[in-house]
Amino acid sequence: MVDTNPKPWSETAIVGKGLPKIDGRERLAGEAKYTLDQDLPDMLYAATLRCPHAHARVVKVDLSRAREMSGVRAILSDSDKEANIPWFRKSRLFDPHCRYEGEEVAVVAAETQQQAWDAVRAIQVQYQNLPFVSSMEDALKAGAPEVQDGGNSPQPGTYSRGDVDKGFAEADAVVEETYRTSCELHTPLEVHGSVAHWDGDHLTIWDSTQGPFAIQASVASLLNIPLSKVRVIARYMGGGFGSKLDLGKYTVIAALLAHKTGRPVKYCLSREEGFLCVGNRPAHTLKLKAGVKKDGTITALEMHGNAEVGAYPTGESAGYMVRELYTCANVKIQEAPVYINAGQSRAFRAPGFPQCAWALEQTMDALAEKIGMDPVEFRLKNVSMVCGVDGNKPYTSIGLPQCLRDGAKAFGWSEARARARSDSAIVRGVGVASGMWGYLARPSSTAIVRFYADGSVNLNMGAADIGTGTRTIMAQVVAEELGVPMSRIEVENADTGTTQYSDGAGGSKTTMIDSPAVRAAAIEVKAALLDMAAAQLKVPVADLKLANGEISGPGGSPKIAVGQLSGLQMRHVVVGVGTRAPHPPDKAIRPFATHFAEVEVNKRTGEVRVVRMLAAHDSGRVMNLLTYRNQVLGGLTQGIGFALTEQRVLDSGTGKMVNDNWHDYKIPTAMDVPADLAVLPIDPHDMEVNSTGTKGLGEPALIPAAAAIANAFYHATGVRATHAPITLASVINLLNQDRKQG
Ligand code: MOS
Repeated sequence: MVDTNPKPWSETAIVGKGLPKIDGRERLAGEAKYTLDQDLPDMLYAATLRCPHAHARVVKVDLSRAREMSGVRAILSDSDKEANIPWFRKSRLFDPHCRYEGEEVAVVAAETQQQAWDAVRAIQVQYQNLPFVSSMEDALKAGAPEVQDGGNSPQPGTYSRGDVDKGFAEADAVVEETYRTSCELHTPLEVHGSVAHWDGDHLTIWDSTQGPFAIQASVASLLNIPLSKVRVIARYMGGGFGSKLDLGKYTVIAALLAHKTGRPVKYCLSREEGFLCVGNRPAHTLKLKAGVKKDGTITALEMHGNAEVGAYPTGESAGYMVRELYTCANVKIQEAPVYINAGQSRAFRAPGFPQCAWALEQTMDALAEKIGMDPVEFRLKNVSMVCGVDGNKPYTSIGLPQCLRDGAKAFGWSEARARARSDSAIVRGVGVASGMWGYLARPSSTAIVRFYADGSVNLNMGAADIGTGTRTIMAQVVAEELGVPMSRIEVENADTGTTQYSDGAGGSKTTMIDSPAVRAAAIEVKAALLDMAAAQLKVPVADLKLANGEISGPGGSPKIAVGQLSGLQMRHVVVGVGTRAPHPPDKAIRPFATHFAEVEVNKRTGEVRVVRMLAAHDSGRVMNLLTYRNQVLGGLTQGIGFALTEQRVLDSGTGKMVNDNWHDYKIPTAMDVPADLAVLPIDPHDMEVNSTGTKGLGEPALIPAAAAIANAFYHATGVRATHAPITLASVINLLNQDRKQG
């Protein structure tokens, strides 16, 4: 059964409630088994020797000393046949040409983790150091060392509609600025890692992954074994933010070492390795030029972007919102990746979007100022109510105007905005920024609901719960449809061997893709139960209702407890299968958000403090108020890091990362996050998007946050902070420059 038959959800009681996570207790109590906790009898531990140089060729690897170390059971390097499998963007798994600090040179499996690390230290490698580049600016200079054959900047991607020259000619005011964002690291709480175990020619992998089915597919293809012989389990996950969507080398290495030794192998990366080699959000340079008429019409938007993607190609683009968010007839975008000798970038919570918001939303602010319009009013005038790049398709719903209006009201925007700039050393300001999220999610999920004769229920689905509360939300959908208490529902998920299929938990799509499939499965179970009751009670199905474990006729009579259904007792279990219906073909689906921020800037010390924020979100229906708030608070927190503190620092002299630890790479802590963070859900009652009315929240929660802070900084100081993060030193510099110019 597919997820047709949507219904209004105002009548419902369970979905939407802020119920605690069904697995919260075991997560908090330390009982939940993450990949790192997975211990198997006879298990070995792996460690990797990584290239310590930014750019080098491996001349010689001497394993003789390492082989003799106690506890060592296997070593793999470039010279081993087993390891000679093609890797995605390199010729093979271990490639003598190392293009960044952290590339794998050799791996060891040993009886203990310490023995594995000791053996790694005993491997002797002769490197030939090569000239390197550690910034886009250097990489683009004539004669720069080439990271990839063919040059450091491949062909740019382009997009264009209308005629920007004509647009700029029509404008009453034009603003132009170059914005810059820094490279950020994902740093999920749970480190990256795998445990691999072979049973004959069957491979089982416990993996810290967002996409168990994607890992299954990649491993099967790389090792050339059938999908049916690879099982990937991701029962508990401690965050990934995109860095765990695709296969990592560590998983393949664990599988190869387990194969070679005939024993299970655990390979979990250290925190430092997580900083160097499992992805990052690439730094961007975004040059944005925009024209506006006095009445607030945007006449042209032109963007030139460069993404510092690291040593290997990735698909990062920061132009999406420039094309779609606001009505503008003339748009031109040119974007090119730039290679440098550093770890490869990877999808990171809304890839490209926070960077885009940083430039676009500050530009919107500057345009509004040019024509003397309030920034909220200016956005309201320009929000595109149709999807500009998708044949001007209407959206299934668009709550962005309401996010702006209701958000401004709840934040006290007008009053805060009107406060005069003070002359004191500590100044305050407020800013606003909007965003949207666009994706191509495949509506591919299947879910199975088993309803047992004792009224307990089992939900089987594929999606990983990466810490967002997916399991809880899906249980709520089942509980609501079948009228059973949450405590009676077991959820099994994210195991390619035993659960149904779902696409990876990324792209903010899990709830909107999976919850309709889950609901459809529950609806099928419900229909079967009502059929049984109709036969037993001799009442037409249409007259029967299921609630609180009972099925009753009109006015409450006749009535029968579900457990008393003879049909159910006979069958022991009723099984419902649900799949996800296609997206509506003639509509575009997008979640939207507007964030407001108030900051305090100390002009003497350069300190910027976020005083409060308010996040208004149209992500469709709220499934669970508690997990919804959690997502948004997490997004705001990452936004504060993006705006104020987070940046990978590469030493220009050595090309090595100097802050590959949580002490020097500064993610926000409780001291940096204000207590006053307000979350304002805007529910557009989207009846068209799917049968649960959901649109996705994880990524939108981050997108406009940093830009709102930057705009608040401008409002406070009168100076534009074009570079993220806005560090203490940069504030002092900006204010000094301003003083000199002023
Ligand atoms: Mo996300 S970057 O799709 O985990």
